[in-house]
Amino acid sequence: MYLDYNATAPMRPEAREAVMEAMLAVGNASSPHLPGHAAAARVDKARKQVAELLGCSPGEIVFTSGATEANNLALRAGYSTGGGVITSVVEHPAVLEAARELTADTPNALTLLPVDADGLVDLVDLHKALASSKVSIVSLMAANNETGVLTDLAPIVEAAHAAGALVHTDATQMVGRLPVDLADLDVDLLSLSAHKFGGPQGVGALFIRRGIDLPFRPLIVGGGQERGWRGGTLNVSGISGAGAAAAAVTCALPVEQARITELRDKLEVALTQQTASSYINGARDQRLPGVSSVTFPGAPADAVLSAMPEVAASDGSACASGAPTPSHVLLAMGRNREEADSAVRFSLGYATTHRDIDVAIASTVRAVAQVRQALGSAI
Ligand SMILES: Cc1ncc(COP(=O)(O)O)c(C=O)c1O
Repeated sequence: MYLDYNATAPMRPEAREAVMEAMLAVGNASSPHLPGHAAAARVDKARKQVAELLGCSPGEIVFTSGATEANNLALRAGYSTGGGVITSVVEHPAVLEAARELTADTPNALTLLPVDADGLVDLVDLHKALASSKVSIVSLMAANNETGVLTDLAPIVEAAHAAGALVHTDATQMVGRLPVDLADLDVDLLSLSAHKFGGPQGVGALFIRRGIDLPFRPLIVGGGQERGWRGGTLNVSGISGAGAAAAAVTCALPVEQARITELRDKLEVALTQQTASSYINGARDQRLPGVSSVTFPGAPADAVLSAMPEVAASDGSACASGAPTPSHVLLAMGRNREEADSAVRFSLGYATTHRDIDVAIASTVRAVAQVRQALGSAI
C-alpha cells in the first residue's frame, strides 16, 4: 500500500511514455539542426503544459533539477536586491537551509516566523517583521509537506508587496494536488517538483513573473540556457515527462481532488475512532486533500511503521528521514519530542484506492496496539 505521495508519487503512464519517447530520440535542445529543433520542440511543449497547469505564460517557467534547486534559486535571486529574508520555521530544508546560507554573514537579515498549534503563520507577525527592516523577499510555503497545512497566500502577498518585498512560495506539495492560478495569485516566484504530481524525479521548475529583473548571479553558470537563469544542457526526457504529467493532472485534478479527499477523510475517521487518544496534526479545514499526519501517543512512529511493512508511509518528511531528529514542523506547532516522534504521515494520491485505505486502517490499528503493548504504554 503506497501512501507516501508527499515523498514521491508513482509516475503517471502519460509521463512514462513521454520520457521513453524523448529518450529514444537524439538531440540537444540548443542545437541548430533538425534533431536539435525536435528536442527544443519537446521542451517547448512541456513548458506550455506546465504553464497551463499554473495559469502563467510558458516564458515565465525555468526548468531546474527539482524544487530544491528552484527554492535555492528563488531565494538567491530575491536576496540579491539588498534587503532581508522572511520565511517560517516550518519550511522545507530546501528553503530554510538556503535562507540560512545566504544570510550566514548577516544573521539579522533572516526572520523566521513562528506558527501556531495548527501550523499557521500569524499575519500580525509578518506585518511586524516587514515593518522592522528592509525586506527583499518573503518566502512562505503554499502547503506543508508534513501536515498538508495550507498557507493563505493572498494577504501575505498584499502585505509583502506593500512593503516593497518580493514573494516566493514553495508550492511543491500544492501543484497537482489543488488548483493553482497564477493569474489570480500574485506571487513573484513559485517552485515545483515534477515527481510530486506523477512526473519523473530530478525535474522541477521555478516560475518567475514576467518583468522581474534581479541583479543576481545564477547558481549554475554555463551556456546561458533558460534565459541565463540556469546553465546546462536541458534534460529533455525528464522535462517531457514533467510536461506530460502536468497535462494529465490539469485534466484530472477536479475528479482526483474530490476522490482523494474522501479517501483521506475515511482514513482519519477510522484511525481516530479505532486507536485511543490519536489525533490529527494541522488545521482541519486548511489542508491538502491527501495528507494526514496522525499522532498515536505511546507508539513511536518508527516502531509502528516497522510493525506494518505492507504500508509505505512516513515518520516525518522523506528528506529528513534517517536523521535522528524530531520533526521541526511538529515541534514548531508546540508538540513535545515524544508527540512529534509518534506521528505517522500518510499521503495519498491519484492511484490510491479504497482497498489501500482499508488495508492501511487495519494494519495501523493493529500495529499501534502491538507497539503500545510491547512498550507497556498506559493508553
Ligand atoms: C515542500 C517541499 N519543498 C521542496 C522539496 C524538495 O523537492 P525535490 O527533492 O524534488 O528537490 C520537497 C520534497 O519533499 C518538499 O516537500
